[in-house]
Amino acid sequence: MTNRIAFITGGNRGLGFQTALDLHAAGVAVVIGSRDLKQGEQAVSKLRKAGADADVLQFDVTQPADHRAAFDYFHTKHGRLDILVNNAGIAAGGFPATGPEHSVAEVPSELLKRVFETNFFAQVALTQALLPLLKKSPAARIVNLSSILASLELHAKPGSPIYDAKSFAYDASKTALNAFTIHLAYELRNTNIKVNSAHPGWVKTDMGGDHAPMELREGGKTSAALATLADDGPTGGFFHQGQPLPW
Ligand SMILES: NC(=O)c1ccc[n+]([C@@H]2O[C@H](COP(=O)([O-])OP(=O)(O)OC[C@H]3O[C@@H](n4cnc5c(N)ncnc54)[C@H](OP(=O)(O)O)[C@@H]3O)[C@@H](O)[C@H]2O)c1
Repeated sequence: MTNRIAFITGGNRGLGFQTALDLHAAGVAVVIGSRDLKQGEQAVSKLRKAGADADVLQFDVTQPADHRAAFDYFHTKHGRLDILVNNAGIAAGGFPATGPEHSVAEVPSELLKRVFETNFFAQVALTQALLPLLKKSPAARIVNLSSILASLELHAKPGSPIYDAKSFAYDASKTALNAFTIHLAYELRNTNIKVNSAHPGWVKTDMGGDHAPMELREGGKTSAALATLADDGPTGGFFHQGQPLPW
């Protein structure tokens, strides 16, 4: 399919920006969402320098008015949306988690709610708002930026790579996001829309930190691949670089 158009939330930096670059390399026109318009414009000028057909929307995923503005933008300019990358997210604290966010006993409920608001409720609401436009695409793709830290199976298994890497607020919000992936993929199973969860890897970004083993260039690959899946590709899955992860 040619002339695909993608919306990548949190595209001004980190994995969102890298995903925009990777989607441009795959021939996709990209629109990035950025809370700070100036930062978004700087990112867009870098994307354009790289040859991308790129634009920016001032966009906070927790604001319903911004969801409506995004709908209006894509409706008016393109009449459809082909790819939605639900990338914007927060970690509440750093990694490894040492603050109150990591502990069920200590996490303040306001903090838990704030993390869920951004990482789960807002993602669901934005997707609901844009679904009518995704349904107009001949082959729409929705990518939800999850994390291996969402995996209940791995968290429950002593000796797994994440058994001792527990950050309750973040992990639970991403587990909820994975539930969203499964439910939405089921509801859309008889359409041309594919919905998948991505674990990018532990990547050097502001969130991932300097100790992360994976470079940004590698980290964007999972999102970009799921955003450009062929028609016989999977839906309702949870993947890292083409390999399924346990829920
Ligand atoms: N890095 C990793 O190792 C890793 C691993 C697994 C999963 N992930 C997931 O990958 C995604 C991107 O992570 P990253 O490492 O690139 O993080 P990052 O460097 O901290 O960037 C996060 C992006 O999300 C945006 N954002 C945060 N809250 C927002 C809101 N309310 N509305 C709109 N945008 C918002 C930020 O915008 P501002 O610039 O305005 O703050 C920024 O553009 C996240 O969902 C994260 O959970 C990352």
